[in-house]
Amino acid sequence: MFAIEPLAAIAGLETRYLSRKVAGRVLVQDVSVQVSAGEILAIVGPSGAGKSSFLRLLNRLDEPTSGTVLLKSQDFRSISPQELRRRIGMVMQTAYLFPGTIAANVAFGPFQRGQMLAPVQVERLLERVGLPGLADRDVSNLSGGEAQRVALARTLANEPEVLLLDEPTSALDDASVRGIEELILGIVRERRMTCLIVTHNRAQAARLAERTMVMQAGRLVAIGPTGEILHVG
Ligand SMILES: Nc1ncnc2c1ncn2[C@@H]1O[C@H](COP(=O)(O)OP(=O)(O)OP(=O)(O)O)[C@@H](O)[C@H]1O
Ligand SMILES: [Mg+2]
Repeated sequence: MFAIEPLAAIAGLETRYLSRKVAGRVLVQDVSVQVSAGEILAIVGPSGAGKSSFLRLLNRLDEPTSGTVLLKSQDFRSISPQELRRRIGMVMQTAYLFPGTIAANVAFGPFQRGQMLAPVQVERLLERVGLPGLADRDVSNLSGGEAQRVALARTLANEPEVLLLDEPTSALDDASVRGIEELILGIVRERRMTCLIVTHNRAQAARLAERTMVMQAGRLVAIGPTGEILHVG
């Protein structure tokens, strides 16, 4: 019933038998999946199933012990880690912002590569994430929802092709969740990004993702249309 789907014409991101073992312990085992440009894939599964471990392999925060990742058909081992992390952006459950202004945080990625974002470019990104006019505000007293918006803007400043989201709304109050979901949907559509989102929230998976994959004990055990996989929507 949950057969692996046919190959997408152009996979924005593809994994082949991706695995990671640490000290004989399997974190991720033989995960092969294709995600198209413009698609949002939800990743669900019990705590400890390896969802975060899987995401961390995709931009080489961790090194696979076997298997590989193709970014628009290119083997990621032939892309430098810095370039890979520019092209594959990540937003985690809690935004790790640097002390300072919102603008400095948003401009950080390009700055690291020797590019200065103009104030108007920073403002455009802040408008896109619903924080217009807040460039000079200090990040120290933002709400959780605002901090996630800054984290998204900071990632978008790198113009990534792939967006990895690890439970991006699970630390937020209900009122902030829908706003962040709308942002994710809009941005992925506009930029035709490839998006993988880990979530514990089935309704969220149904709202955001056409397809969902289920992980258990490091393995991909099911993948298909979200409604069929989760019996929601
Ligand atoms: N660096 C590591 N070394 C050894 N084991 C690890 C490491 N990182 C994670 N693990 C273990 O790997 C397994 C998978 O962890 P992971 O964090 O990927 O799960 P998860 O599906 O994201 O869970 P959750 O839903 O709780 O976030 C867990 O048993 C965890 O304890
Ligand atoms: Mg996790």
